Amino acid sequence: PGQPLFDGLGRPLRDLRISVTDRCNFRCGYCMPKQVFDKHHEFLPHADLLTFEEITRLARVFVGLGVEKLRITGGEPTLRRGLESLIGMLAALRTPDGRELDLTLTTNGSTLVKKAAGLKAAGLKRLTVSLDGLDDAAFQRMNDVGFPVADVLAGIRAAQDAGLGPIKVNMVVQRGVNDGEIVAMARHFRHSGVVLRFIEYMDVGATNNWRMDQVLPSREVQRRIAAEWPLVPLSASAPGETAERWAYADGGGEVGFISSVTQAFCGDCNRARLSTEGRLYTCLFATRGHDLRALLRGPQPADDAGLTTAIAGVWGARTDRYSQLRSLGVATPAGERRVEMHYIGG
Ligand code: GTP
Ligand code: 5AD
Ligand code: SF4
Ligand code: SF4
Repeated sequence: PGQPLFDGLGRPLRDLRISVTDRCNFRCGYCMPKQVFDKHHEFLPHADLLTFEEITRLARVFVGLGVEKLRITGGEPTLRRGLESLIGMLAALRTPDGRELDLTLTTNGSTLVKKAAGLKAAGLKRLTVSLDGLDDAAFQRMNDVGFPVADVLAGIRAAQDAGLGPIKVNMVVQRGVNDGEIVAMARHFRHSGVVLRFIEYMDVGATNNWRMDQVLPSREVQRRIAAEWPLVPLSASAPGETAERWAYADGGGEVGFISSVTQAFCGDCNRARLSTEGRLYTCLFATRGHDLRALLRGPQPADDAGLTTAIAGVWGARTDRYSQLRSLGVATPAGERRVEMHYIGG
């Protein structure tokens, strides 16, 4: 303990993203397209999910190895029953030198009117909401279940009122689908205290039929916004950050651009991902995970020292840099299926 842990490319382990369910009440075409995730799709049975005790135990081991930030994801994490008690357990963890962790959650916002205050009371520090447009027709084209924009906006307000700020809003931009919403979204969230971030549509998973011509490069998104309101660059607030940060020159607040396709940020990627059923993935685009649940539940369950050694071994051997390799024209090996985003979380 105390020794910094670096991967095979010299990157530290700082961020653990924990998926708590593979279910979602939305069917965003870029993540859980309806044709694939229909009523015949089998989600994980409850017995396969890590329990809250198992998640907390693993998180504690990760924190011992240098993790300072925990992000709860899904699927839609607020659909996991009793999530507040997991938040409470994770909020009690401390770094080896006694500091609190950055504890946050990514949600589609659909349950926040009901749940924001309880999540805050349980110990959640901040929150990221996904929202792909302000126009109901455009947003419903994206969520594909007819969910209204107004309910997500009410959820964002509930989260702000609960003190879960500063809230971030993530918008995945798909050319020809919702790129007409960019300026309206920027206008809406200026001067609101919400940090809006535009995400380039990525080739995660194996079901969304991603095509490069559906990606609107961040530089173009930025050009459209700056044509309305000039932007000035901000410096990164943390090493390994996904978003490039900009501020409205007139004091309207901050926007971000997450450009994993046109400007890969693998170089200092410090993120590990724990799937719903306890597999450790060292890249969002991984094809294989490491089964930590087998270590927890095996015939000879590992103790914390054993878990520490196993996780340190996986991180030490890590050489993932998928987005960079894609930019260089190197593809995932044929016959290997990339893990799905709703299973591993954003
Ligand atoms: P904060 O800025 O601290 O709130 O966290 P973050 O930047 O990690 O933000 P968030 O978890 O909201 O991630 C935003 C989006 O960036 C995700 O939904 C993904 O689409 C994308 N993303 C996050 N991490 C990675 C990554 O490691 N690789 C790639 N290619 N994309 C990522
Ligand atoms: N490309 C970019 N972002 C994606 N997300 C899900 N799938 C994709 C994709 N293919 C984003 C969601 C949400 C977060 C969980 O991940 O919009 O903000
Ligand atoms: Fe659900 Fe989020 Fe995936 Fe949309 S992107 S289907 S809201 S998990
Ligand atoms: Fe990290 Fe993989 Fe994303 Fe690169 S593609 S930033 S290595 S998760």
